[in-house]
Amino acid sequence: MGIEVRNLTKHFGAFAAVDGVSFEVPSGQLVALLGPSGSGKSTILRIIAGLEPADSGDVALTGEDATHLPVQQRGVGFVFQHYALFRHMNIRQNIAFGLEVQRPKPSRRVIRERVDELLHLVQLHGYAERYPSQLSGGQRQRVALARALAPRPKVLLLDEPFGALDSKVRDELRTWLRRLHDEVHVTSLFVTHDQQEAFEVADQVVVLNRGKVEQMGPPQELYERPATPFVTEFLGSVNILRVETVLGMQSQDEAPLSVSIPGAGEQASIYVRPHDFDITRERNGRPAWTARIRRLTPLGGLVRLDLDLLDGTSLHVQLTRERSLELNLADGEDVFVTPRDLKFFSESRAFVENYVI
Ligand SMILES: Nc1ncnc2c1ncn2[C@@H]1O[C@H](COP(=O)(O)OP(=O)(O)OP(=O)(O)O)[C@@H](O)[C@H]1O
Ligand SMILES: [Mg+2]
Repeated sequence: MGIEVRNLTKHFGAFAAVDGVSFEVPSGQLVALLGPSGSGKSTILRIIAGLEPADSGDVALTGEDATHLPVQQRGVGFVFQHYALFRHMNIRQNIAFGLEVQRPKPSRRVIRERVDELLHLVQLHGYAERYPSQLSGGQRQRVALARALAPRPKVLLLDEPFGALDSKVRDELRTWLRRLHDEVHVTSLFVTHDQQEAFEVADQVVVLNRGKVEQMGPPQELYERPATPFVTEFLGSVNILRVETVLGMQSQDEAPLSVSIPGAGEQASIYVRPHDFDITRERNGRPAWTARIRRLTPLGGLVRLDLDLLDGTSLHVQLTRERSLELNLADGEDVFVTPRDLKFFSESRAFVENYVI
């Protein structure tokens, strides 16, 4: 195992910033730690790096207990959001830094060769003699990554490394980081609050909320089988419906839909993603709600529909542009709506099941 974290707890005063966190990063994988601001992501990373002591819990790196090791002996590489490059050193000197301070110090030739190798890896050969102020933000973060990788760390910790960059550069660097990881395979933990970033980059995602792990798994699994309402809402836009609304669906003979809804005895919450609805002009014999189009908004390849059901429920639905053109929809018109995939949570907030109509 690359990184193992067991029962980590960290308080600031009475506040539990990290509250019994356990997870693992398998060797060679890239795992994202995803959560909203203040959920404890940076604190966990700092504890793993040895920059901050935990109140309790254990950290193991490549199978060895590191809980009480000083930061210099942990063999971690760290990249922060704000490129903490040394301004008075050129790029070559910045990347070489971690090797220059190693004891025993590698020979000049070994350092030079390693720096050249890394300059190629981060595609900045030709920039070795420049200073950080002469690089773009994205290039500086690539230097920061090369600098972290130079001493061949056991694990790489990245705290919102692209957070300060504009969205186009961020996009490019995500793709680049994923490709780089496939080349070097260093065990990596990547902190982000951006769901899309986590999904694009990571093999697995750990979702964090208020200092606790809500769920861990491969991106697709989290999206399809979210364990809690928090995960469902955090991973993307979603409609939250009342049980009565779902039970009140009308089928062709205008009788209410009779389906056995697990958890419907107690108050359940029902979640439907905007793209998980079928919109039709006819009932076609299926259970469906009648809905009025309040607003139709073209969004490039997709169309956003804001709908009102007869019981006053508002729905946010997404269709492909092709489907919308095929239906020839316009504001103010009535359509039929059937949710394709419902996710149920009981009052205790436990996931009950996916229900497909
Ligand atoms: N040194 C500190 N003293 C007091 N409170 C702290 C300290 N460091 C962090 N906290 C608190 O602990 C909680 C978790 O902080 P942390 O920086 O780990 O969050 P985060 O998930 O990284 O958030 P962000 O996405 O904004 O970076 C926050 O409520 C923060 O205010
Ligand atoms: Mg943070």
